[in-house]
Amino acid sequence: MASGTGSRQEQFQQLDSVINQWKDEQGGLLPIMQQAQDICGCLDEDVQQHISEKTGQPLATVYGISTFYSQFTLQPKGKYTVGMCMGTACYVRGGADVFAALQKMLDIEPGKTSEDGLFTLEAMRCIGCCGLAPAMMINDEVYGRLTPDDVSGIIDSYRKKG
Ligand code: FES
Repeated sequence: MASGTGSRQEQFQQLDSVINQWKDEQGGLLPIMQQAQDICGCLDEDVQQHISEKTGQPLATVYGISTFYSQFTLQPKGKYTVGMCMGTACYVRGGADVFAALQKMLDIEPGKTSEDGLFTLEAMRCIGCCGLAPAMMINDEVYGRLTPDDVSGIIDSYRKKG
């Protein structure tokens, strides 16, 4: 998922051409919001407000769609997305304990981003490496056969990279 590029002003200019393309189409709000998330990195309050103003749709409608679909995120994602697999194989092999250790280490709830903007923590469905259970991904990198004790070393190595 794109994290958004350019200044907010540039993002909104880009978004406006998408809005102009779709705003008169029936059901056009959803593609506008999908592209808004790609352009801006998330659908935060300012983005929702902008979409509402430019499309003439009530803010409550825009907000409702933002929160209904799990593909939308209301706050910017961190540089690193830490996705702990909570699929069956990982769960029965102690995934929940590893997840708890991650929450403690990052000091954030699932779905949230750390204050320094580095990490977003997510619970995932099976990530396709059950032989490595319990497993997690940090962006595209897979870490398997994890124990709660492994977590701090891995997270620290990303903190050092910054
Ligand atoms: S259940 Fe975790 S990788 Fe499949």
